[in-house]
Amino acid sequence: MSNEQQVRIYNPTEEFKKNAAVSGMDAYRALCKEAEDDYEGYWARNARELLEWKKPFTQVLDESNSPFFKWFADGELNVSYNCLDRQVNAGLGDKVAIIFEADSGEVTKVTYKELLSRVSKFANALRGMGVKKGDRVVIYMPMSIEGVVAMQGCARIGATHSIVFGGFSAQALRDRIEDAGAVALITADGQHRGGKAMPLKPIADEALSLNGCDTIKNVIVAKRTGAATEMKAGRDVWFDDAVADQSDVCEPEWVSAEHPLFILYTSGSTGKPKGVQHSTGGYLLQAILSMKYTFDIKPDDVFWCTADIGWVTGHTYITYGPLACGTTEIVFEGVPTYPDAGRFWRMIQDHKVSVFYTAPTAIRSLIKAADNNPTVHPTKYDLSSLRILGSVGEPINPSAWEWYYENVGGSRCPIVDTFWQTETGAHMITPMPGATPLVPGSCTLPFPGVQVAVVDETGTEVPWGQGGILVVKRPWPAMIRTIWNDPDRFVKSYYPADFQGKLYLAGDGAIRDKDTGYFTITGRIDDVLNVSGHRMGTMEIESALVAHEKVAEAAVVGRPDDLTGEAIVAFVVLKGSRPTGEEAKAVIKELQTWVGHEIGPIAKPKDIRFGENLPKTRSGKIMRRLLRQLAKGEEITQDTSTLENPGILEQLKG
Ligand code: PRX
Repeated sequence: MSNEQQVRIYNPTEEFKKNAAVSGMDAYRALCKEAEDDYEGYWARNARELLEWKKPFTQVLDESNSPFFKWFADGELNVSYNCLDRQVNAGLGDKVAIIFEADSGEVTKVTYKELLSRVSKFANALRGMGVKKGDRVVIYMPMSIEGVVAMQGCARIGATHSIVFGGFSAQALRDRIEDAGAVALITADGQHRGGKAMPLKPIADEALSLNGCDTIKNVIVAKRTGAATEMKAGRDVWFDDAVADQSDVCEPEWVSAEHPLFILYTSGSTGKPKGVQHSTGGYLLQAILSMKYTFDIKPDDVFWCTADIGWVTGHTYITYGPLACGTTEIVFEGVPTYPDAGRFWRMIQDHKVSVFYTAPTAIRSLIKAADNNPTVHPTKYDLSSLRILGSVGEPINPSAWEWYYENVGGSRCPIVDTFWQTETGAHMITPMPGATPLVPGSCTLPFPGVQVAVVDETGTEVPWGQGGILVVKRPWPAMIRTIWNDPDRFVKSYYPADFQGKLYLAGDGAIRDKDTGYFTITGRIDDVLNVSGHRMGTMEIESALVAHEKVAEAAVVGRPDDLTGEAIVAFVVLKGSRPTGEEAKAVIKELQTWVGHEIGPIAKPKDIRFGENLPKTRSGKIMRRLLRQLAKGEEITQDTSTLENPGILEQLKG
């Protein structure tokens, strides 16, 4: 990003700056300074201003049991109250909360008053089943109003929800139900995607038939597709029947700010997904503050985050952040390419979306579609309602950034490239749209109050211009509290001894521009892949592969991919002889289907190669660096003499 690279810088317009929540860099710096001078004071001020407390907190940050930090622990509040009752009490009852657009194009609008009523009824139904504060409820649902109602309903009664993405398999669902020890499962008969109806309840039934799910006492099933559905007497009930006779008044359960609002499973560098546990008060605080600062949210905005509620982005920027700000938001059931690749642009036009938040993968695929078919080009639509664009989930390449800026944003809308993670709960490094000069490909500077750094292996900050490890220096309110059922893994994964347990390890590499100090994320430094913005552990996929009866050994690596960011490449040793030709093709298909069934379609390796063995050192360690080079099709130039079996490399070339 130095001058010789001729990077273009995009400044906010004066017009935009004038009305922005963070107006100009001086305002941004003033917020950062406030937090630096009095860290707890900064967060406490915001927590008082932005949240409605039943019982005000007197403690701010409690570091006594580091790294199990607590925020506002003696304060009490309820998230659903803060999202819904608060708006109704403020006279926003008739404001539209959710504009739901189904895959078919059918639109349903729900006001804040109606949403409060629906959430209250659902919460009463859960209570009626005996679900209580602290119980875990797994939600396996499509993008739907019921999905949001289910999450908010859990929050209302203090039940901890755990959403499992609707694309995950029965086995993945089972693992999460068991680990969470869930008492109830909320699902749907099926889901619509791209004009097709797909089953959900049968997958849920398969999961429940496996060992480890007997903690589930109730299954609530929303009707989406109308598919013939088996209902198990005494266990299963239709969503509509469950809420039918319920009162629309439900006293919220007032919980400590530290009460676990949700657990969300995500991939780490070992095989088993981690149940990231989030809090109530600190989490909601940063959901709201980031809506205010990053998205500069205003009363008239129509906000659209295209994520699925199955991912953290859907939690913070669909279910909680927008509603807690009294925003009108879009919830979309379908896919960006159905009925054609102009779907997003048409929806922005129809609903007059003003803040649009999506992932680089979606942008890249829509660029390709628009190149092939000019009728779905964004410039063919009236996108004049847009004022801010967002990007999340993976690095956005500068060319995609520029296309997004020019063709979607009409060269007028700032792009906020937001870096954050399931564990961070909310944005960590991101531009402020009315302040930060933008540089394509950089997530720019820390969110006000968040203290990040780039360090070396010893935890010492490296000079700007030098790559290193991204860390967070101080605990922040929306941070992960622990890994459900595995506090040791929490400490080891995020507060490693290498940094004396004092720095949060994000798992990403980063570099700061030598002139501006802007951050660029250089990718994961662990065995985690990012495929289409979905996080996958290589070990998770390896475990799935070796669970197949034909597989003796497997190693999985990522390879850069123009469309999906990274693609999954698997190197496999079969128990029998190494297959070739048609036989190899058949086994590849079989293994892809298998992984799809074990984890979900998103985990299917794009490329599978067979060897009689894997490249290992003499001590038996798989040489992943070599595999990554082979996956990319690079010539192996390095010395391979330490390999136990150098001949194997030839077999593993693509
Ligand atoms: O590698 C980083 C990448 O996504 C990882 C977090 O994935 P997940 O927990 O699934 O959350 C995704 C949505 C918040 C990070 O460790 N990542 C996320 N946002 C960006 C990013 N990489 C570069 N730029 C981003 N803006």
